[in-house]
Amino acid sequence: MMQVNNAGVSFNELDENSVEHAEIVMKTNFYGPKLLIEALYPLFRRSPSITRILNISSRLGSLDKMRNAEMKAVLERENLLEEEIVEMASTFLRDVKNRTWESKGWPSYWTEYAVSKLALNAYSRVLAKKYSSNIGSSNLSVNCFCPGFTQTSMTNGKGVHTANHAASIIASLVLLPPHQLPTGKFFSIGSKQEKKSRTLIDISSKL
Ligand SMILES: NC(=O)c1ccc[n+]([C@@H]2O[C@H](COP(=O)([O-])OP(=O)(O)OC[C@H]3O[C@@H](n4cnc5c(N)ncnc54)[C@H](OP(=O)(O)O)[C@@H]3O)[C@@H](O)[C@H]2O)c1
Repeated sequence: MMQVNNAGVSFNELDENSVEHAEIVMKTNFYGPKLLIEALYPLFRRSPSITRILNISSRLGSLDKMRNAEMKAVLERENLLEEEIVEMASTFLRDVKNRTWESKGWPSYWTEYAVSKLALNAYSRVLAKKYSSNIGSSNLSVNCFCPGFTQTSMTNGKGVHTANHAASIIASLVLLPPHQLPTGKFFSIGSKQEKKSRTLIDISSKL
């Protein structure tokens, strides 16, 4: 079985920032994939083959975007719990409501979107760890992928490559043969500056 969680929203123009739509962004980009994975898990368990879950995320949700040192330390912990990620998401929404989000050190660019992807990344890492001992038996591979700056509606057609190019890389990743399937990784499309233009790169150090 295969689940690619691609649906996502942002309400920002490229050089803008807002938290006006924080709740809908968190619901769509974090709670949506999480609830869907939980709902489908009984089917995954019954599947005789490896289930491949790929969460389409963003480098904006990299750990280094989190300025709140306390929260960053929680997210970095090896034994991070799912409940702690949910608690982080609630704290963010509370800080937005109380208008304290700026002083609390949440990511400063595309804030609501970045927090939603930070939560999605952390959740993917926790899930992968939870089921990692079962790769080969219960068979679950969970990874994140950032398509990079891609020409879609979200970017008003701007970007350094087409959606087709990003989709072909996504397809090659989820269709890897079982023995090559990673889990708990964060991948992206390399840039010119990284001298890996348009190819798949591993950026798991940002998880
Ligand atoms: N484009 C980029 O540069 C870029 C960079 C990094 C990450 N990403 C990520 O890539 C993924 C795809 O984004 P995109 O660039 O292709 O954006 P997009 O063109 O705006 O497409 C977003 C897709 O998500 C669907 N969607 C939004 N809210 C939904 C909901 N509540 N329920 C079901 N479907 C919903 C939309 O469906 P409708 O068309 O029906 O509204 C649309 O098909 C997102 O997760 C995004 O965060 C994009």
